[in-house]
Amino acid sequence: MAERQLQVVTGAFGYTGRAIARRLLEQGQQVRTLTNTSAADPFTGQVEVCPLAFDRPQMLEASLRGAKVLYNTYWVRFNHQRFSHAAAVANTKVLFAAAKAAGVERIIHVSITNPALASPFEYFRGKAELEENLKALGISFAILRPAVFFGNEDILINNISWVLRHFPVFGLFGDGNYGIQPIHVDDFAQLAVAAGAGREDTVVDAIGPESFTFRELVTTLGEILDCRRLLISLPPWLGLLAGRLMGLATGDVVITREEIGGLMAGLLAVDSPPTGTTRLTAWAREHRDTLGKRYASELGRRQVQ
Ligand SMILES: NC(=O)c1ccc[n+]([C@@H]2O[C@H](COP(=O)([O-])OP(=O)(O)OC[C@H]3O[C@@H](n4cnc5c(N)ncnc54)[C@H](OP(=O)(O)O)[C@@H]3O)[C@@H](O)[C@H]2O)c1
Repeated sequence: MAERQLQVVTGAFGYTGRAIARRLLEQGQQVRTLTNTSAADPFTGQVEVCPLAFDRPQMLEASLRGAKVLYNTYWVRFNHQRFSHAAAVANTKVLFAAAKAAGVERIIHVSITNPALASPFEYFRGKAELEENLKALGISFAILRPAVFFGNEDILINNISWVLRHFPVFGLFGDGNYGIQPIHVDDFAQLAVAAGAGREDTVVDAIGPESFTFRELVTTLGEILDCRRLLISLPPWLGLLAGRLMGLATGDVVITREEIGGLMAGLLAVDSPPTGTTRLTAWAREHRDTLGKRYASELGRRQVQ
């Protein structure tokens, strides 16, 4: 077993953070989370909780003091009246600075495939800005770049499945022939925890063993769920409109213009070798009775409806 040391994980009651925290606890590590969630504690008190207090940097610093590694999952998926990419960039810089002041030895940062300072998409621009900020910080780091996660309680794969279960046709954005390379969240957590134990500064694409076009992904999920649907190509604006109507029905933001743009620009695919081993097709077959039965709401999780 690895030596027991304090590891700080942002959002350990959320999606990726939970998988990372679980793995660290299994290794016998002391785990503390920084979070503002009121979600139930899945670890029954084994994880110490401190606020993700971006407006109180000294409190953040105190919460990070003594930590060997900070695993940063913090980000916001889209701009909303209550949160924004711009604020998430500023907040993350505060978090990194607090980690440095607290003497944290290493930061494992969750980014995205294909971030770029010149990207037309704010999500990808913001992620690139944070990568640059972390590289200049002077703390040992690993930057992990997932394309999209799948696994229990994921949002995208679950909600594609939900649409397949509930509608007679599936609308693709454009021709659907752009790539997507999902990684299982537990494979990602394994990669993150292994990176936490490393020493080298590194940037790694985090993708699973199966690559799809979006069209292939939807077709494959339809076959696995026995919900084979007619796939129709929609112009992006019409796909966005359909997403907004679905959003009105579900009380969620189903998909944004930026997410459609990033997907269609092929930004969720890379040429790197896979880092995960779990096959989405095998996992989906195993979970076919539950996958997509219920809509997974981003805003529901954020409790801002
Ligand atoms: N989900 C994917 O498929 C995917 C794909 C590529 C990259 N990523 C990256 O992976 C990381 C983790 O994603 P995840 O899906 O696992 O996220 P998550 O668990 O929903 O949230 C991760 C952290 O971000 C905070 N957060 C999320 N949305 C927020 C909001 N609207 N306002 C304030 N705080 C917010 C959470 O705060 P609380 O703890 O207070 O709830 C938590 O600390 C992110 O950096 C994301 O960019 C995700």
